[in-house]
Amino acid sequence: MSFLFLKEFLKKPMQIASIVPSSPTLVRRVASKFDFSVPRTIAEFGPGEGCHSREIARRMHPNSRLLLFELDAQFAGHLKRQFARDPRVEIINTDAQDLPAELSKRNIPHCDYILSGIPFSILEVNKKRGLLQKTFESLAPHAGSAFVIYQVTNELRRHATLFPRAESEYCLQNLPPMFITVFYKQGLNGNHGNGNGNGNGHKLPVESANGHERF
Ligand SMILES: C[S@@+](CC[C@H](N)C(=O)[O-])C[C@H]1O[C@@H](n2cnc3c(N)ncnc32)[C@H](O)[C@@H]1O
Repeated sequence: MSFLFLKEFLKKPMQIASIVPSSPTLVRRVASKFDFSVPRTIAEFGPGEGCHSREIARRMHPNSRLLLFELDAQFAGHLKRQFARDPRVEIINTDAQDLPAELSKRNIPHCDYILSGIPFSILEVNKKRGLLQKTFESLAPHAGSAFVIYQVTNELRRHATLFPRAESEYCLQNLPPMFITVFYKQGLNGNHGNGNGNGNGHKLPVESANGHERF
């Protein structure tokens, strides 16, 4: 499977952004952030060849749904073949930005969890914030509902100011090591995000005319 990964990386390095899939340790640590004891609706952005998707599908409740948003047609085809016998899993070969439209097509009001493996750090700042806004609005209004990401840097915490609470940890057992961050839809006292920051003490960046950030 790593061969498919490397092949797709060589074709589209900026979109794939990694030459190998996530390690088994990273996959397990990411999956530990989800409560699978009851049925869940879960969306995953950028599943690639499906290492996180397989672990989620293995652990999730029989009445759960897993929607996989994968931009790359080769990976999407590979995922379709892999999950052909699991009616809980649906592969959507489109941009993660289409999440709200795809949810409304299926009459799904919200997701309980959204997992992202897409290279957020290299997205242009307005696209990044637009996707964060859609992600926040697509999450269910309950205490455990969360957006989970794994990234080489933790720069997204500066941008994800809609989320009232975030927790990060570092996973060294991956090439390269990754931050795993969970952005909760609600704060500890049940409050929703209000745009006043995620409690991480970072000053909000101000965009310049060319879309780059300054502080
Ligand atoms: C670094 S790979 C991660 C793959 C896999 N999740 C893993 O952990 O091994 C990033 C994946 O995100 C996909 N991707 C990038 N931008 C995307 C977007 N806007 N919407 C959906 N998928 C995207 C790429 O095609 C690629 O499969």
